[in-house]
Amino acid sequence: MNPFYLIPHTPKAYFCDRAKETEDILRFLENGSNVTLISPRRYGKTGLIYHIFDSLKEQKKKVELFYVDIYATSCVDDFIAVLAEAVSKELKKDQLVKSFFQKLGRIRPVISQDALSGEPKLSFAFQTDAQRRYSLKALLEFLESRHTRVIVAIDEFQQIREYEGLSMEALLRTHIQPLTNVQFIFSGSKKHTMAEMFTAENSPFYESASLYTLEKIDREVYARFIGEQFAAQKKSITPEAVDFILDWTRCHTFYTQSLCNRVFSSVKKEAALVDVLVAADAILKENDAAFLERRALLTTKQWKFLSAVAKEGEVSEPTGAAFLQKYRLGAPSTAARLLAALTEKELLLETKSLNGNSYCVYNVFFSRWLERM
Ligand SMILES: Nc1ncnc2c1ncn2[C@@H]1O[C@H](COP(=O)(O)OP(=O)(O)OP(=O)(O)O)[C@@H](O)[C@H]1O
Ligand SMILES: [Mg+2]
Repeated sequence: MNPFYLIPHTPKAYFCDRAKETEDILRFLENGSNVTLISPRRYGKTGLIYHIFDSLKEQKKKVELFYVDIYATSCVDDFIAVLAEAVSKELKKDQLVKSFFQKLGRIRPVISQDALSGEPKLSFAFQTDAQRRYSLKALLEFLESRHTRVIVAIDEFQQIREYEGLSMEALLRTHIQPLTNVQFIFSGSKKHTMAEMFTAENSPFYESASLYTLEKIDREVYARFIGEQFAAQKKSITPEAVDFILDWTRCHTFYTQSLCNRVFSSVKKEAALVDVLVAADAILKENDAAFLERRALLTTKQWKFLSAVAKEGEVSEPTGAAFLQKYRLGAPSTAARLLAALTEKELLLETKSLNGNSYCVYNVFFSRWLERM
């Protein structure tokens, strides 16, 4: 079997580190605080949430856990449906499901079957905002009335800012505030939006959760993990090969896992540097069409700018003369505009550090692909 998982819910034996993060977040929750988990895409937020849930289950803590991904939701109605769905799914065998739906009251959900997964899908036909308010309140009150502690993880939380109509932020805040038995993990990747929601004084969620920033997995720890995973499956990998993997994927979890997965599956016994190079090539080739397609979505100037950043790897002064002249990117004012547009499109990732901001191409494989053009 391949020990390098590519899905967020990774079994403990194949999950790399995150010991301190798990401990920290558990401590926040233990002390009654909600937690806001922030990191760039694909660092491992969702995986960490599942890992935390698994640890709680393993410790046999009396707590009910619900995970909700709201990425695909676009309004309050969707939100209520996915939350109700998550709750009813977890409580499947429980008598209480019935009382839960009774609590939701006059507004009966429509239950259909998901064409792909076969799982029941809920939707609501709310007529008025009063009904929406009522149902959300009923749902949260139901959780509050459980006899065990309840933790609800809401993944891709920034999405509520995109909702039309009723302000989800204000609504949720109103109903969450009085809860004493229910705690929340709010997770998201749009750093500015997330931080603003929880730290701006005029935001409904101001200071209602402890902010936790997830960093990359430590390089040394990751290197050891990769070696151990190969060894556990009676294979091996050379230190140079591991080094190359971590450099080339910038220790960005999803990309590191993907390349490891590929290398692992391609060797019978020992993986050497050459195997990694071949695997990396194959990954980029497979992405050719998808990456080329992105070109059509960008202006020539944006594409040129993005390629320049990829070639540099990391740029700390993207509007500085040195960078602009080297790649003939025009005036600083143009560069500033390109920078803003590409960051907004999540094609560039901005990283803040004590030494100032730096930029790189967000998708590591795309960056490596552009670099070769
Ligand atoms: N600690 C870990 N050990 C091993 N693999 C991991 C770990 N954390 C994450 N992964 C892998 O990396 C991939 C990306 O992680 P995950 O989906 O949790 O990131 P994310 O931060 O939630 O991303 P997004 O913001 O796009 O939702 C997962 O599919 C999983 O395979
Ligand atoms: Mg995620």
